[in-house]
Amino acid sequence: MRNQILAALFLLLIGAILIAHFLWSPMWASLFLIIPLVLWGLYDANQKSHAIVRNFPILGRGRYLMEALRPGIQQYFVERDTEGTPITRIDRSVVYQRAKKVTDTTPFGTQLDLYGEGYEWMNHSIAAFDPHDLEQHPRVTVGTPDCANPYSCSIFNVSAMSYGSLSSAAIESLNGGAKIGDFAHNTGEGGISSYHLAHKGDLIYQIGTGYFGSRGEDGNFSWEEFAKRAAEPTVKMIELKLSQGAKPGHGGILPGKKNTPEIAKIRGVEPGTTVNSPPYHKEFNSPRGLMEMIGRMKKISEKPIGFKLCVGRKSEFLAICKAMIELNIMPDFIAVDGGEGGTGAAPVEFSNSVGMPYREGLAFVYDALIGFNLKRHIKIIASGKVMTSFDIFRALALGADAAYSARAMMLALGCIQALECNRNNCPTGVATQDPKLMKGLVVSDKKVRVANFHHETVKNFVELLAAAGLENADKINRTHIYRRITMNTIKRYDEIYPYLTPGCLLNEDMIPENWKKYMLEAAPGTFMTDLQLYGG
Ligand SMILES: Cc1cc2nc3c(=O)[nH]c(=O)nc-3n(C[C@H](O)[C@H](O)[C@H](O)COP(=O)(O)O)c2cc1C
Repeated sequence: MRNQILAALFLLLIGAILIAHFLWSPMWASLFLIIPLVLWGLYDANQKSHAIVRNFPILGRGRYLMEALRPGIQQYFVERDTEGTPITRIDRSVVYQRAKKVTDTTPFGTQLDLYGEGYEWMNHSIAAFDPHDLEQHPRVTVGTPDCANPYSCSIFNVSAMSYGSLSSAAIESLNGGAKIGDFAHNTGEGGISSYHLAHKGDLIYQIGTGYFGSRGEDGNFSWEEFAKRAAEPTVKMIELKLSQGAKPGHGGILPGKKNTPEIAKIRGVEPGTTVNSPPYHKEFNSPRGLMEMIGRMKKISEKPIGFKLCVGRKSEFLAICKAMIELNIMPDFIAVDGGEGGTGAAPVEFSNSVGMPYREGLAFVYDALIGFNLKRHIKIIASGKVMTSFDIFRALALGADAAYSARAMMLALGCIQALECNRNNCPTGVATQDPKLMKGLVVSDKKVRVANFHHETVKNFVELLAAAGLENADKINRTHIYRRITMNTIKRYDEIYPYLTPGCLLNEDMIPENWKKYMLEAAPGTFMTDLQLYGG
């Protein structure tokens, strides 16, 4: 094929020269096009990097063009409302509508397949309430009894996304929205920037394995720096990140293109370089060590301290619970992220195949805390595609006390799911550090959209509570949700995720059979026991 294409180009060239010479002199002008085409064909036929272009000079490049156009064509022309990944069009649309405060009702009935495997729904009650009679802004108090400054947290908050991953305008808009709507904005692991502080919205300061913001000159954790950040008045809670669902067991990645001098200064790293945070914490190497660190953070900050994780080995989480009991140190909250979580950049294997999915992870963490009699002190915040008020309801049914959202908040800012977060090309200015693209994102407009989205979603959540005949969010439990297992079988959540007897994991004789092996593997002195290593 390669030779035929080159021959055709040469014939075209000779033909044009002959026509121009003997028949029609204006034909000479066509050589301005034909000569570059011939040279281009020769170049393609001799380059060695792309086999398809070498075999099909010029034409082979059509493939790359189609590849580039595919996501847009797919999203705008092909995709149905119930499709689109990672976030379906139906979910994206409802976020846009609520952020813009335009009609968000649906005509003519559901587009979902109610008989499809996995379909889930909640139960309404004949004894429903008037939603106006319920508390319109449900909140939950985070803080164990020894916490000097408990935080009254909205049930819906902005999940961790750093300045670096997101633009300064996006961070400002999220924080401005949090201020207007009185909810919390998680800083992400990149530290606290001036953009996080500009609007005085409540912050949850996240510390990842890079310790950005609490990092000494040697790159290790610095208690002095931590004390300074913790004293910031808008920092209401602090979250130590163990892992996140999109890349558990892998540290954060800041692509070199997004590592501007300003961001590098905030993080204490070299500008322009790709920064990979370590996959593990240097400050501790055992469940006991983790709890001791949390205890010290609690003492210094006097604010609620929690940790975030995507569940991996169940025994490791149980070991952390054992360490809590042994040392009598508890986090004030635990943030549970699902394997389906989002990210600015992650290796595809980690996104697709590492970490426990959200529902199982959340149910497991709740059950473990109940089993160790710890749940009464520790709040759970869940994240994993929480887009609508039903998603919040479902999270609370599984055991969460509040929810986080990252990608829905990005959509409220105007994100169009262009999937460019890792390339610095985000066309909406949300996930880029390119000043030209950032200009498109106007903070004064977008912060109101973020607040609108939060407000409308919580309002709808209160309507769901009322429809279920529940006076407050505390009353939601696993009996309120059903899942279709097959065409003819449905199960209630409490059948799929059976509740544990409170305190049963504290007594050898009461440990449920299917928990025994995990309990045996769990030791507060180490994350990785010999039993885990050798399958004994
Ligand atoms: C652009 C982007 C940046 C993120 N950065 C962080 C981060 O710094 N720390 C973290 O713990 N999680 C981070 N996450 C994960 C989210 O906080 C959240 O746990 C996850 O996306 C699940 O929530 P979602 O389904 O609502 O997006 C990031 C997610 C996105 C989309």
